[in-house]
Amino acid sequence: MNSAGDVRGLQFKRVGAENRFSGSEMVAAINNRLLQASALKQCAMTEQPIRIRTLAELRDVLNEHRRAGRRIGFVPTMGALHDGHISLVERVREDCDVSVVSIFVNPTQFAPGEDLDTYPRTEEADIARLTEVGTDIVYLPSVEEMYPSGSVTNVRVEEMSDLLDGLHRPHFFYGVATVVARLFVHVQPDVSVFGEKDYQQLQIIRRMVRDLGFAIDVVGGETVRDADGLAQSSRNTYLQAEERAKANTMSSALHRAASRISLGVPVGEALEEARARIAASGFDQLDYVSAVDPMSLKDLPKKEVSLGFEGRVLAAAWMGKTRLIDNMGFKRL
Ligand code: PAJ
Repeated sequence: MNSAGDVRGLQFKRVGAENRFSGSEMVAAINNRLLQASALKQCAMTEQPIRIRTLAELRDVLNEHRRAGRRIGFVPTMGALHDGHISLVERVREDCDVSVVSIFVNPTQFAPGEDLDTYPRTEEADIARLTEVGTDIVYLPSVEEMYPSGSVTNVRVEEMSDLLDGLHRPHFFYGVATVVARLFVHVQPDVSVFGEKDYQQLQIIRRMVRDLGFAIDVVGGETVRDADGLAQSSRNTYLQAEERAKANTMSSALHRAASRISLGVPVGEALEEARARIAASGFDQLDYVSAVDPMSLKDLPKKEVSLGFEGRVLAAAWMGKTRLIDNMGFKRL
């Protein structure tokens, strides 16, 4: 919300403490906007989303929408938004009446020594991108709002969280599951869209939603790539020019491995070749290159897969100081 209290072109009276509006005023603004929604969806968006920083405000606004029977779509992010994130927001806008995007750099998914402090924080640029795509609400909670002091409740999706990336970042998926569960409770969306780019994360969230009985449709959005195939990522900004030039070899090696497995090459042979290609192309350390069953995320046997089987090849490797991950689906023809 800008300092003048001008929300999507509508003026509001401030209520109480700085930067707070009554829930009904915000709802009135959003209602107004929704009346024009179909027309606005056709043209370039110029009005900013409403910025909400507290759970209390978010509840006020969203409860009203729920009572009006509106479908709420949610995209959780850590900001530094790129076309990959925006494609998920577009998906929500197609499917839902109200779009909510959260921006929260979640400390519990970073281990000591990882890039929590240097993770790009670009709120104004993010809001500009969300304005272009047409977003109703941006939720920007503080650490205290997400993790009230003394809070000790966490979510662990066992087994799947300890494989692949979980072997190399043991804390990671516990932090992700915990924050996404909390965000789901805050937003209570009908639909939430996650990128296939972070395939293990997507599958873990699906499992959590199933296990805990959240009434949320989890939708996977396709990976958005640069022209040379590199999957877009907020961390790509860490790459030096010469590293960036080599970074797309991971996606091309995975693409080739996925095609070969789908044509009947034994899994072990296809993965060996992909590992060699990635290592030879200037990646410094290969954490894993695996082919897995999508439900369990467990490694497939090294032999040829059976006709019609659909699986996933995934890789993680370090290019200098930057850890890149990618994955692709395959179906045995
Ligand atoms: P973040 O890395 O900001 O990603 C937010 C969402 O965007 C995730 O669902 C991610 O898979 C998706 N995404 C990232 N790059 C993409 C690309 N190139 N194409 C399509 N989708 C892409 O993932 C997280 O944040 C966090 O772990 C979070 C779920 C927000 C929990 O803190």
